[in-house]
Amino acid sequence: MDELKELDGILENLDEDLKNCNDINQLAKTKADYLGKKGPLANVMANMRNFSAEVKKEIGIRSNAIRKAIEEKIEEKRNNIEDALINAKLESEKIDVTLPGVKFQTGVIHPLNQIVMDLEDLYISMGYTVATGPEIETDEFCFEKLNLPKGHPARDMQDTFYINPELLLRSQTSPVQARKMLEEGGKPLKIICPGKVYRRDADDATHSHQFMQCEGLVLGHDITLADLKGALLEMARKMFGKDREIRLRPSFFPFTEPSVEVDVSCGMCHGKGCSTCKNSGWIEILGAGMVNDNVLRMNGYDPNIIQGFAFGIGIERLAMLKYNIDDIRNFYINDVRFLEQFKEVK
Ligand code: PHE
Repeated sequence: MDELKELDGILENLDEDLKNCNDINQLAKTKADYLGKKGPLANVMANMRNFSAEVKKEIGIRSNAIRKAIEEKIEEKRNNIEDALINAKLESEKIDVTLPGVKFQTGVIHPLNQIVMDLEDLYISMGYTVATGPEIETDEFCFEKLNLPKGHPARDMQDTFYINPELLLRSQTSPVQARKMLEEGGKPLKIICPGKVYRRDADDATHSHQFMQCEGLVLGHDITLADLKGALLEMARKMFGKDREIRLRPSFFPFTEPSVEVDVSCGMCHGKGCSTCKNSGWIEILGAGMVNDNVLRMNGYDPNIIQGFAFGIGIERLAMLKYNIDDIRNFYINDVRFLEQFKEVK
């Protein structure tokens, strides 16, 4: 009977079609072709009414089995296609763990900040606290309250950038002294104040219009120049090595009396004299002195009860000496080749 032959041929045709089918959309179409209303099974069914009950039964049983087989074959093919897709994806996304990784560019602490951090560590261990103040300062705090009235000749050394006649970029960290003294209202005090300062200097190898200082101020009963020397000797040895010495030379600052310039023994020649220390055996590192009575009085302290010392360290100067740097501008142009060298230094 034709219909039975037709049924027998369906699965063979399907096998042939599936062989060439490699994607899900095509498979969906093949499924519709075989099981849909216009498919071969539907076609056989459409002619059923022409057959005897016996043949109908036979065709019914066979076409059900074929329908089931078609569904199974299509399902199997779907699984194959999906597996192949996943495998292709896994293949293309495979990670080769033997390839070198991506290198991350890591930064480094700026040498000036490293010096500030070292100073903070040292002085905090000696009982000081760290204070800060504004970089835009008033003339009053930057100069007047430090015994530098308007027109004082010592102002010449600290010409700075003025915002108006009363507001300026601070030329030193000393105004933080005055601010803290007024805050403490006559009580003993032990602070360091690191920060940026500005001066109207033309930039060259040793001058920069912006640089950094770290101020120190200790006020209390019976504080003497010997205490100042001790505080600075500790610092010089921590920064440059245990074998270093310091010496104090008389100097002048309006806010200290007596005032000193502090030198550290030369690390190259150990005091004998060489080109680094210009044959003197010593290298100047900072200014300091006993706080001037006028400054104490102007900022709420009675010099008969409380005295003390102050010092001002130039951060760039320390860094240049410590790391052998010959041009201050290196700190500010941010050339990565320069900065990267400090990855190893500590
Ligand atoms: N402020 C002074 C300067 O910048 C340094 C200094 C600070 C000197 C404290 C004495 C005491 O030159």
